[in-house]
Amino acid sequence: MTKIKLSPSILSADFTRLGAEIADVLAAGAEYIHVDVMDGCFVPNISIGVPVVQSIRKAFPDAFLDVHLMIREPVRYVDAFCRAGASHLTFHVEADSPENITAALEKARRQGVGTGLSVKPATPARVLGPWLEQLDMALVMTVEPGFGGQKFMQDMMGKVTQLRAMLDKANPACELEVDGGIDPATAPVAAAAGANVLVAGSAVFGKPDRAAVMRALRGE
Ligand code: DX5
Ligand code: ZN
Repeated sequence: MTKIKLSPSILSADFTRLGAEIADVLAAGAEYIHVDVMDGCFVPNISIGVPVVQSIRKAFPDAFLDVHLMIREPVRYVDAFCRAGASHLTFHVEADSPENITAALEKARRQGVGTGLSVKPATPARVLGPWLEQLDMALVMTVEPGFGGQKFMQDMMGKVTQLRAMLDKANPACELEVDGGIDPATAPVAAAAGANVLVAGSAVFGKPDRAAVMRALRGE
């Protein structure tokens, strides 16, 4: 069975103690740190941006920063997030024209930063087809992007399975991430469907013992 990687989403962390929160999940074995960037335009919420990524990078030089851009026309901000220290940038395929999405992916790749593409719940997997061969990660949203703490959309599992099959043909090394409503009950469902990277915000940061929740997410 594929090894599960965890990407705790700091959207649900206590922002007044962000460094300690990140240190906590890294000590508990988090493979990635998921950073949700929202512009109040692509999604109806505003979260954090470039300066926060920069501070996290400074404090955690070795952490893998999995940056999820829920912003319109993300190509405008690729250089800034790369300079700030993102390890990986995931763009939403709905956020711009195909030409500009290609440009955003190329810009990140040229700077040695990993690239991913994400689909909102209403967007079919086939939309990612033209880019599959070049991606490091595909992300299936299992809630409407914008907020933490929403209910897992079990009906996205067909899309996860379909995308994993598409990737096995086009790009077997590509990771498949799910984001939204992941907790110890839904994590095995997503993993069984074919996801290998699990984002979890409220499930991890909402509990005092992060190591215990993370073991439960891994099915241990
Ligand atoms: C939602 C974000 C998620 C969010 C997940 O738009 O992309 O990463 O933090 O939160 P939970 O795990 O609480 O559903
Ligand atoms: Zn996210």
